[in-house]
Amino acid sequence: MTQLQLLCSFTGSNICWAFLLAVLTIPIYSLLLLMSNISRKGAHLHQLLPPGSQGWLPIVGETLEYARPNQSLSFMQRRVRRYGELFQSHLFGDRIIVSCNPKTNHFICQHEYKLFKSSYPRSFVSILGEKNVLALPKELHKKVRGALLSSFASSLRTKEYIKDISMTISRTLEQWDGRVICVQDELAKMAYVVAAKRLLGLNEHDPECQILQTLYFELIKGLISIPINFPGMAYHKSMRARTKIAKIIDDMISKRKAAHCNPLSQDFMDALIKLEEESSDAFVTREVTRDSILSVLFAGHDTVSKAMTCAVKYLSDNANVLEMLKKEHIRIEEQVKEGEDLAWDDYKSMTFSNNVVSEILRITNIAPGVFRDAVEDVDIDGLRIPKGCKVMAYFTLNHLDTSKFPDPFQFNPWRWQDKSLSEGTFMPFGGGPRLCPGNDFAKLQICIFLHHLVLKYRFKQIEEDQILYSPYIHFKRGLSTLFETIQ
Ligand code: HEM
Ligand SMILES: *[C@@H]1O[C@H](CO)[C@@H](O)[C@H](O)[C@H]1NC(C)=O
Repeated sequence: MTQLQLLCSFTGSNICWAFLLAVLTIPIYSLLLLMSNISRKGAHLHQLLPPGSQGWLPIVGETLEYARPNQSLSFMQRRVRRYGELFQSHLFGDRIIVSCNPKTNHFICQHEYKLFKSSYPRSFVSILGEKNVLALPKELHKKVRGALLSSFASSLRTKEYIKDISMTISRTLEQWDGRVICVQDELAKMAYVVAAKRLLGLNEHDPECQILQTLYFELIKGLISIPINFPGMAYHKSMRARTKIAKIIDDMISKRKAAHCNPLSQDFMDALIKLEEESSDAFVTREVTRDSILSVLFAGHDTVSKAMTCAVKYLSDNANVLEMLKKEHIRIEEQVKEGEDLAWDDYKSMTFSNNVVSEILRITNIAPGVFRDAVEDVDIDGLRIPKGCKVMAYFTLNHLDTSKFPDPFQFNPWRWQDKSLSEGTFMPFGGGPRLCPGNDFAKLQICIFLHHLVLKYRFKQIEEDQILYSPYIHFKRGLSTLFETIQ
């Protein structure tokens, strides 16, 4: 390697590195591919691997094609037509078997630990941490997940908690009056503030809060990227942001431990510190605490803000939905007692709003799918997912399936009235032991956001903007929108 390094510093170019890497990996890679095929053929003559292609480039495989703006859906559709609902590809640095079948997707999620285990692309794991919640093995995972769920169980339904979220949201919206807002960015900030407060007890005006927010913006950009650590590449920038965030979180944990604050307060950080202190065998290490916080704060705001941004877009485009929402929230407002704020029961009685949220989740596919490793050989409909192979349960096609959701690209919240669905048809929050623990927290926030938005504001998109999937959803221009208070 030193000779290579020498050569590279000699030419002084990063491209050189990339080139050498590619040239060196192609033959090794092809050899490995050949060997793995041969050994598989020998081992399981009677069981077929799912059909598919690996693409031509080492490391990159078919990633560029999948991640090309707005091409992920047709990428999957083409392969389903050609190979069926279980096929292989090569994405994010590894060979991967993709399932687009609702029953199989449900099966994969339900058999976490036994047949499959959560396993995210390399870039994702190095950036969110080796001990991020999605990477934790069974026992640790249960403990950390338990800490998060118990902190929600003791707070989410309380008046104080909901009022606090509601205040943050209504104050943010007040600042938008009469202005053109880049909705995508402003909602990312707002959702971040809500999550940082509820999970870590950070206040909007704390210096850490604002620094962390800027760093998360950087971090998110390289989360799903080709994991090559060259200056200038998205992955490299994300890694730098990760290092800084990890340091800030470490300091926050130390401070919180030293302060020995209110034993009754129990946000996620408190619950984790308690776990760490109670685990005598150092099972729950500082690294677990820190990476859990880092990853949950990410999962807890990036998703919610995208759902809210899409809500603004879909309500701007669908006046009938906006009207119906207004009716519902006028009723809710009348039912809230004088001088009080929204409460859990109010949220629960927002039937139409909850349908709007389902429709947003269905049509936007904020989490297009989940990533796993096969722990054992798993046979599905005569095809084998070999032990050790990466798997993606891809939900998006199920959510846009014409036979389950007629006219699937039409934003139609009414389709959710009395809808009953078979297993795997609708999985916006995943399923099984890793079902999103933030799902109620997310839906509650979106409903409160809708409440303030439709009751108090008129809003109009001021330039044409479109949703783009690359492969995760975002708006090309950030959704510039004019907001005005309704008199
Ligand atoms: C609209 C918003 C959201 C969507 C669409 C969403 C989606 C998902 C999905 C699909 C998973 C499963 C991942 C897998 O099985 O591999 C997941 C897991 C997770 N989500 Fe969410 N999520 C949302 C909001 C939130 C919020 C607000 C939080 C904040 C606490 C959160 C925290 C987590 C955590 C910690 C996990 C990992 C769970 C585990 O491994 O047990 N999510 N989410
Ligand atoms: C990308 O796809 C979405 C929905 O699938 C669509 O609404 C949007 O207009 C597309 N964007 C572009 C730039 O074509």
